[in-house]
Amino acid sequence: MIVAIDGPAASGKGTLGRRLAQALNLPHLDTGLLYRATARALLDQGHDLNDVTAAVAAARGLALTDFDAEALRGRQMGEAASIVASIAEVREALVELQRSFARRPGGAVLDGRDIGTVICPEAEVKIFVTASPETRASRRALELKGQGEGVDYAEILEDIRRRDARDAGRAAAPLRAAQDAVVLDTTKLDVDTAFEAARNIVRKRLADMAVRASR
Ligand code: DC
Repeated sequence: MIVAIDGPAASGKGTLGRRLAQALNLPHLDTGLLYRATARALLDQGHDLNDVTAAVAAARGLALTDFDAEALRGRQMGEAASIVASIAEVREALVELQRSFARRPGGAVLDGRDIGTVICPEAEVKIFVTASPETRASRRALELKGQGEGVDYAEILEDIRRRDARDAGRAAAPLRAAQDAVVLDTTKLDVDTAFEAARNIVRKRLADMAVRASR
């Protein structure tokens, strides 16, 4: 079973993906890390984030075992990743890596922006996780504070709005819910309630599939 979780920055899709994967005993891929690692490699090599040839080479050079997830998760790398992710050729270079992860025997949970629409349109479960920009900014501020980073709420909200506009407005695989995705708005939900809601979406989908298979 493939579970595709998409949604905007700081919507909580990463946490949901991780917890669902654990509960379902499936491997989990946070695909944002691929774009973050590509951006990191470009910057480390002294290239511009819009250098298409260098960006494609960096994306092709990635291996899933390379990541230092914690080092990639900072605020600046999110912005850099969003710029690199708007390059169609970079997205293309990362498709196979994501699809081969998704097609492992038994399945997988992937979270990102275009999993249900482009990477795994065949996914059995698709969840589009969303929350208001203000709620997402508050959660991100709390998280950064917990990591000892100085935070300015207004700046974080501005970051989130800019990233939403770029991720949803780009021509290549823009952020949007797949037609057959279930939308999960977590604005008023805490982490545990959101997780229970996501679990129920999976349960319902599995039950529907079982009914269909028995006909
Ligand atoms: O999910 P994240 O914040 O770690 O993602 C960082 C950026 O990478 C995000 O702003 C857009 C891009 N991204 C993407 O375009 N497609 C994905 N499947 C995952 C991330």
